[in-house]
Amino acid sequence: MKAYVSPIVDSTTVFKNDIFKGKVLFCTGGGSGICKAMTEAVMRHGANATIVGRKLDRLTASAEELARTTGRQCLAAQADVRDPKQLHEAVANTIAKYARIDFVICGAAGNFLAPISGLSENGFRTVVEIDAIGTYNTIKATLPYVRESKGSYIHVSATLHYRGTPYQVHVSAAKAAVDATSAVLAVEEGPRGVRSNVIAPGPISGTEGADRLTTKDGSGGGWANIPVGRTGDVKDIANATIFLFSDAASFITGQVLPVDGGSEHLRPLGLPYPQSVLDPESVKGMIKSRL
Ligand SMILES: NC(=O)c1ccc[n+]([C@@H]2O[C@H](COP(=O)([O-])OP(=O)(O)OC[C@H]3O[C@@H](n4cnc5c(N)ncnc54)[C@H](OP(=O)(O)O)[C@@H]3O)[C@@H](O)[C@H]2O)c1
Repeated sequence: MKAYVSPIVDSTTVFKNDIFKGKVLFCTGGGSGICKAMTEAVMRHGANATIVGRKLDRLTASAEELARTTGRQCLAAQADVRDPKQLHEAVANTIAKYARIDFVICGAAGNFLAPISGLSENGFRTVVEIDAIGTYNTIKATLPYVRESKGSYIHVSATLHYRGTPYQVHVSAAKAAVDATSAVLAVEEGPRGVRSNVIAPGPISGTEGADRLTTKDGSGGGWANIPVGRTGDVKDIANATIFLFSDAASFITGQVLPVDGGSEHLRPLGLPYPQSVLDPESVKGMIKSRL
């Protein structure tokens, strides 16, 4: 039997297209990859946005493209999330333009493969500074406005740190801190009407992040063994974003949502997967089909 492959779905086919009308998104890392797709999806549902990154050329081109394709406004705010002053300026420019911030995506991150024995203290510190401290700095700079709008945060984490992922000590430590920060934000700010959740993407094909971590010729085995039958698409993360920011998620805060096709829960035991579950006869003798 052939394995089912789950379809990739556009967020605009699932949610009403005006649910974020009048809202404003502030997104770090929004100039590229996953966070750009998250921003586009939120804008397609009516919001205006600010995207934050260091490379002004790419940021400006992305902002123009996002505005053109969605019909909403997009501000390119150059800032390094490690620098609170630059972030405060990006927030001030956002308030000057839109007068509010409802949604924040903390997505700026750095990654590369390196063993503990070879990684410099500076390399470790840099990733922790961008991912973990950058998330904290973004929260600090935006919180007064998100309190006012009774808005919501999504932090972009990963699933790497749930187990020991080789060559990923820096990102694992940083993303564990991001998850913890979101949980504390949720309980401290819940009584003021602010929600905070984490999206933990599995491998998302076609992104710089995934490209940096996989062999080009597939010799690393690619990303086999994903229960839904395929790697993730940026649209999968965009869909989760729309749901978590929407009122449909108003009772959901402090949560980590892995968007990984179920791979986090898979322990295939040494039986071929998915053949052994699609065709139990193929492993007859090893399992008791009836007791
Ligand atoms: N791709 C995957 O399969 C995958 C899997 C799990 C988790 N994730 C997470 O998903 C998020 C997006 O990843 P991606 O793969 O789409 O990578 P990406 O395209 O490299 O996105 C990273 C973004 O962060 C910005 N950035 C980096 N350092 C910054 C800094 N110091 N200050 C401000 N902005 C900074 C970059 O812009 P500038 O260079 O212009 O600053 C870039 O736009 C990350 O949080 C990543 O950890 C990705």
